[in-house]
Amino acid sequence: MEINPIRGMKDLYGLEFSKYQSLVSIATKVSSKYGYQCIETPIIEDTAVFQRSLGDESDVVSKEMYSFTDKGGEHITLRPEGTAGVMRAIASNKLLVNDNNPIKLMYYGPMFRYDRPQKGRYRQFHQIGFEHVGEKSPYTDVLSIAMANEIFTSADLDNITVYINSLGGSESRKSYIKAIVEYFKKYENDLSGDSKRRLITNPLRILDSKVPTDIEICTDAPKIQAYLNHEDAKYFDTVIRLLGNWGIDFVIDPKLVRGLDYYTHTTFEFKRGIGEYQDALGGGGRYDGLLKLFCKNDVSGVGFAIGVERLMMLMHDVEIHMKKVAVIPVSSSELDVALDLTKKLLEVEIPTELLISESNLKKRVETATKRNFSYLLVIGEEEKAHNEVSVTEVDSKTLRNVRYSQETAILCLKEKFES
Ligand code: HAM
Repeated sequence: MEINPIRGMKDLYGLEFSKYQSLVSIATKVSSKYGYQCIETPIIEDTAVFQRSLGDESDVVSKEMYSFTDKGGEHITLRPEGTAGVMRAIASNKLLVNDNNPIKLMYYGPMFRYDRPQKGRYRQFHQIGFEHVGEKSPYTDVLSIAMANEIFTSADLDNITVYINSLGGSESRKSYIKAIVEYFKKYENDLSGDSKRRLITNPLRILDSKVPTDIEICTDAPKIQAYLNHEDAKYFDTVIRLLGNWGIDFVIDPKLVRGLDYYTHTTFEFKRGIGEYQDALGGGGRYDGLLKLFCKNDVSGVGFAIGVERLMMLMHDVEIHMKKVAVIPVSSSELDVALDLTKKLLEVEIPTELLISESNLKKRVETATKRNFSYLLVIGEEEKAHNEVSVTEVDSKTLRNVRYSQETAILCLKEKFES
């Protein structure tokens, strides 16, 4: 019976895996330049970690969490995102020495959301995320966005636009929520069931609805910019000014409330080109009270996560051709010698594989050529008797089946691989 991965989940291998590795390596390199260090938190957390921070009314908590009761009766959840776990880790490990000591953390790995699978949307997907905790300033927000931009450019991804908004502090949000409740009440009968409920429980979430009729109603909803108090408006203006100074293109999107409840002030998303309802390649923002849910430190943070699968769809398919050597014994009598030569080559850091799966020499050579080996080292009866090896450089017209002593062959190859 064929057993396949669970719906919405897939195996990651070959070219895709190389792209994932390449994105992680670019993100690590760029973010360490900005002062970030890596952290890995468990994939499973106490359900309270997410319930407490993402908001009961968010789609993620209300519909999409993989939550279970384990054999010990604990309520556990496969992480749907990384920020909450990182805040829990900062609290558990007392990583903030004091409130004036910011910490910058990068993480990557699989996340799980029980969403409807489609192109670019999976139930297990990968994020690379970044959290800068302990400093509240528009300057920090801009540094986060600039770092994201640098990661995209380093991965050769162009034409990515930053969409940005501000949700203000609690005072501004309160007056804004009052205004949108008044507005949405006029359309109460036309709103989706979820949005009708959210009108009472969490009206801001209506702006994040993906239901077409809700989206239409939202078009003329009041814009938050008009409700930001002086201080919050100044904060947002500074972010906008600094982004311009840095040379980053952005679009102000007043409906960008993001899907999770912890955001305050700046929110942002990255999308390909300019358009309305396309999937975000990444997103984030500032969160004022999040860490306080886990410990006594009441410090603000800013962060974002990029969606690996969505970025991989845009990355160029560059097949990495690594030079490598195939050691091919002609028959089973040369197997021991061939393994010994393989060992010697590996010891001097030459990528080498022993080819034994085909039944005869002709087939082994054919396979090696197909598999893009750069050098074929054949050992037959004669070679074995004289401690030699026949070397063929696949792409060369000159080096075809030339016999060398094993020592000379290793030295020559070492030189070729070092150059
Ligand atoms: P998010 O917007 O929920 O934010 O997710 C970030 C990115 O993960 C999305 O922009 C998207 O590229 C990718 N993503 C989300 N869901 C899926 C899915 N089902 N399939 C494929 N890709 C997906 C967060 O998770 C926040 N924790 C980001 C953050 C960090 N905010 C502050 N710090």
